[in-house]
Amino acid sequence: MGFVEELKKKAAADKRRIVLPEGYEERTLKAADEVLGEGWVDIIILDSEANVKANAEKWGLKNLAKAKVVDPKNNPDKAKYANILFELRKSKGMTLEQAEKLTEDPLYLGCLMIKAGDADGEVSGADNSTGNVLRPAFQIIKTKPGCSVVSGAFLMFLKNKDYGENGVMVFADCAVNPEVNAAQLAEIAVETGKTARVLGGFEPRIAMLSFSTKGSAKHDVVTKVQEATAKAKELAPDMQIDGELQADAALVASVGAKKAPGSTIAGHANTLIFPSLEVGNIAYKLVQRLADAEAIGPVLQGIARPVNDLSRGCSVSDIVKMIAITANQAI
Ligand code: ACO
Repeated sequence: MGFVEELKKKAAADKRRIVLPEGYEERTLKAADEVLGEGWVDIIILDSEANVKANAEKWGLKNLAKAKVVDPKNNPDKAKYANILFELRKSKGMTLEQAEKLTEDPLYLGCLMIKAGDADGEVSGADNSTGNVLRPAFQIIKTKPGCSVVSGAFLMFLKNKDYGENGVMVFADCAVNPEVNAAQLAEIAVETGKTARVLGGFEPRIAMLSFSTKGSAKHDVVTKVQEATAKAKELAPDMQIDGELQADAALVASVGAKKAPGSTIAGHANTLIFPSLEVGNIAYKLVQRLADAEAIGPVLQGIARPVNDLSRGCSVSDIVKMIAITANQAI
């Protein structure tokens, strides 16, 4: 069974409610129609009943009738959600009037529904920038206990099955934090390991990447990765983590044996942690394009409840995959 089929099977066994704030958007509605037809998830669409009906007719989407529809502009629970937002943000200067207005913004409403327990996860971003999707999620849902940063992982499906876990790898942080300190990098490593377990279905072998292997170069940014490695091992003694490693030492057994003798990760890593967003974002795109790998993500990790961002260039099938991922994170 393929990766996505496996996720759908698990989602069907414990059905979750996924909210789609961009309820007016063609690819989003087509993805909703497909997953409702398959029946492994419940869908909440944010838009007016009339719009959803008209769009369903226009695009021939018969299964949308099975979705719950919530109209952000005409919402009987507006006062409840406005109060939740006001309580969360009043210390930052938000007034109740401002909170009421923001409940009409579908990206805020989706997160408020999750906070109130009325939805289990959100998928958005086919029509909004990463920043617009993440900001309400950070403000309302926040990090999960014990975490201080949300980060973004990619599941990479490589043509060459010799690498990673039979060709599957997890990369992070490729999407969120432009700069991190050693403690945050350690946290990101541990959260990425959990993502590998939950979504990849394999035990992570985590390489903390750098341009240095085991002290071969000296620089502040190398020291940061060394400190992060030590801290990550403390945070998750049950996880296999090693660093600092260069990419070739992490991936190629003969190089790993030479540069990091005795390491069980060197040459066998299936989970790569990058020292900064610049490196992570560039690296995943290079692997995707030059090695013709499939990149699924960014999957947000470290957040209290699952919210996931789509690329604005996403396809219907990308949205279906992200709904399956989000439903599994919600379980
Ligand atoms: N984890 C948890 N909370 C966070 C994080 C984080 N990583 N970053 C910010 N926050 C919180 C802040 O603490 C703050 O909370 P508060 O208002 O309750 O105090 C709130 O979010 C807003 O923080 P700001 O610093 O004002 O964040 P801002 O809105 O400026 O930016 C954003 C957040 C948009 C995510 C920013 O970090 C960003 O632009 N990151 C890069 C995103 C990006 O462009 N990625 C590459 C493209 S994606 C791709 O290629 C797949």
